[in-house]
Amino acid sequence: MKSWNVLVTGSSGLIGSEAVEYFDRQGHRVVGADNNMRRMFFGPQGDTLWNLERLKGSTRRFTAVSLDIRDREGVMALFRENKFDLIIHCAAQPSHDKAAEIALLDFEVNAMGTVNLLEATRQHTRDAAFIFMSTNKVYGDAPNEKPMRETETRYDFADPADYDGIDENCRIDQTMHSLFGATKVAADVYAQEYGRYFGMGVGIFRGGCLTGPSHSGVELHGFLSYLLKVALSGKPYTIFGYKGKQVRDNIHSLDVVRAFEEFARNPRPGEVYNLGGGRANSVSMLEAIARIEALTGQKINWTYSEVSRKGDHICYISNLAKLKSHYPGWSLTRSLDSILEEMVAAEREHGTKVAT
Ligand SMILES: NC(=O)c1ccc[n+]([C@@H]2O[C@H](COP(=O)([O-])OP(=O)(O)OC[C@H]3O[C@@H](n4cnc5c(N)ncnc54)[C@H](O)[C@@H]3O)[C@@H](O)[C@H]2O)c1
Repeated sequence: MKSWNVLVTGSSGLIGSEAVEYFDRQGHRVVGADNNMRRMFFGPQGDTLWNLERLKGSTRRFTAVSLDIRDREGVMALFRENKFDLIIHCAAQPSHDKAAEIALLDFEVNAMGTVNLLEATRQHTRDAAFIFMSTNKVYGDAPNEKPMRETETRYDFADPADYDGIDENCRIDQTMHSLFGATKVAADVYAQEYGRYFGMGVGIFRGGCLTGPSHSGVELHGFLSYLLKVALSGKPYTIFGYKGKQVRDNIHSLDVVRAFEEFARNPRPGEVYNLGGGRANSVSMLEAIARIEALTGQKINWTYSEVSRKGDHICYISNLAKLKSHYPGWSLTRSLDSILEEMVAAEREHGTKVAT
């Protein structure tokens, strides 16, 4: 198999670092671009340098550059110096709630930074495959319009037609997104356009809850990771609204990266895919707390706030049918329990510092 030149942006983050390790293991050359901006967004708990150090030790052909994707000249120079075959764009301001505090910065990173990368690809390596990591927040709160039923521990879709979850036909406008969701919509639609208008091999993946052991989890981003930190450290946790019955579907970062690989081998210009854990890996807050307590043997010290997060989903499950039909070689390999067990082990190893 031909060896690829791969660029991963956000390479010290959860998904970026999994992509670096995965493609390095496959014998490809990987350049990672990350300026540790997660620390600036979330403070010391969001610092990703530990993950960068880990990557340097675990990889063979990985080069890290401290590049800000907002720096257009820097991005263009990187593309002039390297002929990339595959670009995996994971750098982002990733928090729904944080965006309102830093509206301009959120736009610059999520929207402008993405256009910088798409345009650099068009100018310097337009035959490359380009993967944009988008989010289910592009649907805003439209999924909440689905009829819901309430069980003892979760909200769920009431209509059997919705059983497998939200598909790519859900509308993305005239709904409340949060500013984060709106900047991701801008980037998502731009990425589609580079695929459709210019015929480039751009794929858009709208993530559910992406998770794994390399998450620098903070309260505003990385729900399972943060919940585990809290469980193991005894610090308080707040559930916001919906009685703790809001449902998320969780996917391991390795399964995310495997979907990228399938797309990169056979790109379909401008296609959009929902990518999450599907129904099998869905869990409500209350259910997640019970599972984590059982797994760690420690009680989580949680309180409830009536106020739900603006634009928050009541029940979100990614419908994976389109991805599976276009790429039959892809499937989920990690169950929710195995994800949690791995995260507990990783958390115990890295320590359990949680900001108060
Ligand atoms: N984690 C999730 O649950 C989830 C869900 C849906 C979509 N996503 C999307 O997936 C992508 C990856 O998410 P993640 O969980 O790995 O996030 P992450 O915060 O762990 O990683 C993002 C990385 O990007 C870096 N970064 C931020 N701004 C940068 C800039 N201007 N220049 C260079 N690097 C910069 C950060 O330092 C960080 O290491 C994001 O686009 C996110 O919106 C994540």
